[in-house]
Amino acid sequence: MARRRMVYEGKAKILYEGPEPGTYIQYFKDDATAFNAEKKDVIDGKGVLNNRISEHIMTALGGVGVPTHFIRRLNMREQLIRQVEIIPIEIIVRNVAAGTISKRLGIEEGTPLPRPIVEFCYKDDNLGDPLVAEEHIIAFNWATQQDLDDMIALALRVNDFLSGLFYGVGIKLVDFKIECGRIYEGDFQRLVVADEISPDSCRLWDVETGQKLDKDVFRRDLGNLADAYTEVAKRLGIMPQNGTAPTTGPKLVH
Ligand code: CDP
Repeated sequence: MARRRMVYEGKAKILYEGPEPGTYIQYFKDDATAFNAEKKDVIDGKGVLNNRISEHIMTALGGVGVPTHFIRRLNMREQLIRQVEIIPIEIIVRNVAAGTISKRLGIEEGTPLPRPIVEFCYKDDNLGDPLVAEEHIIAFNWATQQDLDDMIALALRVNDFLSGLFYGVGIKLVDFKIECGRIYEGDFQRLVVADEISPDSCRLWDVETGQKLDKDVFRRDLGNLADAYTEVAKRLGIMPQNGTAPTTGPKLVH
């Protein structure tokens, strides 16, 4: 059997050519990186957890009419996705101050923001994914004004939906990052949510205790990252057990 072709290898995932034209296979690695890959480790089971959590979130988004690249999960570490043209902009939505906005603007971590704040970063590892303004995005042709409007609308829908999804299981969605891709259908193009949505790309705090259940556990050496992600998966009712389908739904935490 011919070995399948690798299309791209990133820090936490690998893309392979898919079984049909217009598809890719997205493989989730156990590698964890932070601070633009200055800090690195291998966390046993992280890839499996992120594959399941991202599947759950993308499927739920699809269920409320938010288009995504996700087709179906294939196995413990892989999912089938639609090929998209990735827009080289990371969209960050923040509900509570944390991370770079706290540093940049001197806002204490944990301060609720007056409204969800949308930020853009230019995807370029050599530059450390710098924060950019709409002006840069349009002037340098990284995306059109229409793309930007669609990206903001998508990101805010994702924020509303995920805030509710996580709140229902006792988790506060502090912030998250999404990436968008273009899909061409005949003469038309539309944008879909691409990449992954997982505790690698969100800040998730326990509503009661404020305990961090996301990649900050790794970034800041706060404990075992796989345990934190397992807690998120358990609360969402998707704890992976030998790759079998989930048997329970989300659990409400009082
Ligand atoms: O995460 P960091 O402190 O470096 O940056 P941030 O701007 O505070 O990140 C805001 C949110 O976007 C966090 O949930 C990050 O995990 C996520 N993010 C990401 O997933 N990938 C990036 N390249 C940058 C941020």
